[in-house]
Amino acid sequence: MDDKKQKRILTGDRPTGKLHLGHYVGSLKNRVKLQHEYDTFLIIADVQALTTNFENPEKLSEDVREVAKDYLAVGIDPEIATIFVQSMVPEIAELTVFYSMIVTVNQLQHNPTIKSEAAQYGYSDLTYGFLGYPVSQAADITFCKADLVPVGGDQLPHVEQTRRIVRKFNQLYAPVFPEPEALIGDFPRLVGLDGKNKMSKSLGNAIFLADSADEVAQKINQAVTDPARIRKDDPGHPEVCTVFEYHKAFNEEEVPEIEEACRAGTIGCVACKKNLANKINALLDPIRERRARYEENPALIDEILLAGTKKAREIGKETLEEVREAMHLNYFEKIT
Ligand code: TRP
Repeated sequence: MDDKKQKRILTGDRPTGKLHLGHYVGSLKNRVKLQHEYDTFLIIADVQALTTNFENPEKLSEDVREVAKDYLAVGIDPEIATIFVQSMVPEIAELTVFYSMIVTVNQLQHNPTIKSEAAQYGYSDLTYGFLGYPVSQAADITFCKADLVPVGGDQLPHVEQTRRIVRKFNQLYAPVFPEPEALIGDFPRLVGLDGKNKMSKSLGNAIFLADSADEVAQKINQAVTDPARIRKDDPGHPEVCTVFEYHKAFNEEEVPEIEEACRAGTIGCVACKKNLANKINALLDPIRERRARYEENPALIDEILLAGTKKAREIGKETLEEVREAMHLNYFEKIT
């Protein structure tokens, strides 16, 4: 591949704990593939995590490493992808301040994701940082001049906000930034074990990538199935069954036969769940193996994060020089 022409992608996560199967099907699996096609930057957005978690910053150092470990365990290759920590790249914070001059409060207040998250957390009087995190996210995306942002649909308003900032910046000062585009995966949200909500750590309905084979089997056993199936040979309704949803996500090949057998009442829920747990465990086994290697050598995780963060800072410094020049803020020689 011609490196010079390789487009850059930037995406990432807030470190709020272990990642789960919902993250895997919704983004991680795709990122493992994309890293071979694009110059990939993965941000562990610890400052953004503070927007909702400012009372417990002491948990971040563990959560940052947990996310890094999950990335590496699923197969993100630190030789080709750059994993870095947001708060350790001060150029992102600097850029956030400059951008905050050209974003209006009104735009932020109308951001649908901000609105729904504020409702979800029960916030009425928003902090400046929470209302403004899309501005900081614009800085995440642009400090390295990313071309593409692989995200789920809920992040679209933030990418749109970023494009708006970029257009305004380029038009006011100088054409420094490419207008980034969202790369939306067509992955439906994975339902949680309760069968009601999307899989989420805070709702306690998640299977984590770090779960053991036994934990997976146990959780699948408790997953909500078709309430109409009381006896093994009662005809089932796969369309209302969580386990069937998971077969669609993790055992695609067998979906037609499982559907038929369930409707005919020739396969029981216990066997169906066992089959599913085996399939999920087969997916997780290589992930567990890679995780174990990093757990044996935790210093390696820090080394990878440090190297990625240093690289991100170098790029950030170059971008900020251009930004200062464009804004006529380069008054004198660089102070080092
Ligand atoms: N807001 C994203 C989330 O909650 C995380 C994130 C932070 C991000 N900065 C980003 C995603 C930049 C894409 C690009 O999942």
